[in-house]
Amino acid sequence: MRQTVHGTGRLEGRLELPPDKSISHRAAMFAALAEGTSRVQNFSDADDPQSTLSCLKQLGVNIQMEGDLLRIDGVGRNGFTAPERDLDCGNSGTTMRLMSGILAGAGVASRLVGDSSLSRRTMRRVIEPLREMGGEIDGRDGEFAPLVIGSGRGIRGIRYPLPIASAQLKSAVLLAGLFGEKPTEVVETVPSRDHTERLLGLPVEDMDGKRMIRSSLEHPVPLQQYRVPGDFSAAAFWLVAGAVHPDAEIHLSGAGINPTRIAALHVLQEMGADIEIREMESKGPEPVAEITVRSSSLKAVRLDPSLIPNCIDELPVLMVAMAFAEGRSEITGAAELRYKETDRLTAMESLLAAAGERFEQRDDGIVIQGRGTHQPDIAEFESEHDHRIAMAAGVISLMADGASVVRNAESASISYPQFWEDLQKLSKSSS
Ligand code: S3P
Repeated sequence: MRQTVHGTGRLEGRLELPPDKSISHRAAMFAALAEGTSRVQNFSDADDPQSTLSCLKQLGVNIQMEGDLLRIDGVGRNGFTAPERDLDCGNSGTTMRLMSGILAGAGVASRLVGDSSLSRRTMRRVIEPLREMGGEIDGRDGEFAPLVIGSGRGIRGIRYPLPIASAQLKSAVLLAGLFGEKPTEVVETVPSRDHTERLLGLPVEDMDGKRMIRSSLEHPVPLQQYRVPGDFSAAAFWLVAGAVHPDAEIHLSGAGINPTRIAALHVLQEMGADIEIREMESKGPEPVAEITVRSSSLKAVRLDPSLIPNCIDELPVLMVAMAFAEGRSEITGAAELRYKETDRLTAMESLLAAAGERFEQRDDGIVIQGRGTHQPDIAEFESEHDHRIAMAAGVISLMADGASVVRNAESASISYPQFWEDLQKLSKSSS
């Protein structure tokens, strides 16, 4: 789909954010692992969490909508049935990596496949520790999907210092750890999103300034009964759009503000963005807030590399913010961007170049010479089927004088199916 986006004279309105993708995946998986029925409100209808649901259904889990609640009848740790067909994870790295932990732990003979993007992404990071734990798992060339999981059981608890700050990896190991009599201890130096430990209620200890998270067979898997908050990663697109647009006021309802997810908020505030947060009463284990953003004059920032895991998904749109700040901004230590749905450093290089921005790509980041408030070139942007690149292109297009096009714009539905409608809703007049 080719999406035309007109530059707009004013951005204004209130949006209900789409449900959080990371929490939706986990709600469904953990509910399936629990014994008993869970009911989850506001479950995501985006493609990635729906891939997780279809995998769970193939494993014999009964999942149904009951009004606005998603009902999941948990089968317990040993209740999955071996699927007759491949488990299709679609475009979703979270589905493939977290399900690998569960299936290798439970010893469910299965094959996980994905689309062409997911089949190019390395799975070695989960294959290695899962094998070390005694899981039977292998991939094409030892690294890529399809992943084949065997029926052997016998998870050994390990102590695992995370070699990469990745919540997907942390979660895969902890989930397999739920099947071991001896505890698995994951040690995290740079904290990544903590939804897994939070929603499973896993014990977290301080170990010389590092976080140690433990899981084992002894740990009961709780039912998952809460409302999924709005996705902060979706909010980030509007926070940037509102901050860089010269005439904007946007209200975002029900945004998840888990501290391990909102580094982009702090970065934007450090850049001078006018953002107001009002924390609300939460109907679950995750904090939520109403957020308002208004037009701001941004100044350049040098991103602290230790914040990167807490804004990894927001980096593409933060690069857009940097292009609209006064001065030279810098992102380093972000090589992980190359292992996402696309190589996001290269994809953002093409996007920024098409808009006429000034920047220099580095091996592990980017330097952007911001031009302050300005109208970028109108362009035809290529999303490379990456939802976050498509949406970042949408945001930059709103600032231009005229109509831009985003190619393969339907990819937004991976995390935010209503993105283009919401963009339209906020655009009050053509410039
Ligand atoms: C996710 C973790 C992140 C993020 C992804 C969702 C999760 O990946 O990029 O969109 O739900 O755990 P990594 O943990 O591999 O960085």
